[in-house]
Amino acid sequence: MKKIPYGRQHITDEDIQAVVDVLKSDYLTQGPHIAEFEQAFAGYIGVKYAVAVSNGTAALHLCTLALGVREGDKVITTPITFVASANCVRYAEGDVVFADINPETYLIDIIEVEKLLKAAPKGTYKGIIPVDFAGRPVDLEAFRKLADEYGCWIIEDACHAPGGYFADSKGTKHNCGNGDFADLAIFSFHPVKHIACGEGGMITTNNEKLYHKLRNLRTHGIQQIPELRQYNHGVWYYEMQELGFNYRLTDIQAALGKSQLKHAEAGLERRREIVAVYEQAFSVKSYIRRQVGVVQGHAYHLYVVEFENRDELIQHLRDNNIFAQVHYIPVHLMPYYRQFGWKEGDLPKAENYYLHCLSLPVFPTLSEEEQTFVIKTIDEFYE
Ligand SMILES: Cc1ncc(COP(=O)(O)O)c(C=O)c1O
Repeated sequence: MKKIPYGRQHITDEDIQAVVDVLKSDYLTQGPHIAEFEQAFAGYIGVKYAVAVSNGTAALHLCTLALGVREGDKVITTPITFVASANCVRYAEGDVVFADINPETYLIDIIEVEKLLKAAPKGTYKGIIPVDFAGRPVDLEAFRKLADEYGCWIIEDACHAPGGYFADSKGTKHNCGNGDFADLAIFSFHPVKHIACGEGGMITTNNEKLYHKLRNLRTHGIQQIPELRQYNHGVWYYEMQELGFNYRLTDIQAALGKSQLKHAEAGLERRREIVAVYEQAFSVKSYIRRQVGVVQGHAYHLYVVEFENRDELIQHLRDNNIFAQVHYIPVHLMPYYRQFGWKEGDLPKAENYYLHCLSLPVFPTLSEEEQTFVIKTIDEFYE
């Protein structure tokens, strides 16, 4: 059996043609495809504004800047995420406070967040960054209520969940990143994600002011609206009004993203089919612990389960060319975050999850034969 990764991009001939067309055109960067991709993505998510950037980390960085995070500002996030969800606070010199996860959903636990908020004077915490980890949407209705009570903003890290949705208390569906509850949301187009641009990211929002600020920050802080410039020296004139970055996506990447978006929904359906097969196969296996509760809008960027003897199982899978992966090493235990005092025992539920979790292969082009082989290889190990 050839190597089976935990995730992989799906590039069609049409995607390739879209990139080739850009290479033959006049613009490799800042051409028409960026705005078209932004518009198409905003339509897919059902949000007013989308700002394409060079990757998901840049998206997070711009969000913390746009929301005005400053030295010493406290922001809450989950330890079970990629380091970027926390690092964006540090880029703006804020302090990251991790809240433990709910062991049944693997998502940041709102009860733990509330405990932190309650224990400090109002205004101590500036914001919350919930992550739709693995593609399971966070209940943002509940988070919004809590955030409003304590004057916090919300950045939804929806990197794992384009196309995902949750139903609110009235049963109304809300797509991840649609800005109904979060101030800003971000996505990544890294190749293992649902939509691949090579590198790429997107920020979505319904807030017009933040949208314009983000567009400026993406391009060195140069004012993008001519009427809002303070001076005008002539047709060549541009004006930098604040300190920004070059966090632009290229037209090559945007064309790929736009083309990928056309089969994103089909890819999502395939992911859900693959997960249904795993769930069926594992439902009677005592050595596997799965997420509790069925979530219709789960986007299954990852299919994470918990195993006994996980470390030996990983080796057995690798011996069979199956590259299952651990998502994630708790961020608070990274040496960088330990310097702020974080240590083992601080977040026991996340730490216990880390000892057992494993992401099994799930991506649209995973064949039935490959999936059967993965299940059989796991069975073999426990038998
Ligand atoms: C949850 C989460 N947030 C942020 C990022 C950062 O995205 P990027 O790799 O595009 O910078 C990732 C990507 O790995 C991620 O998984």
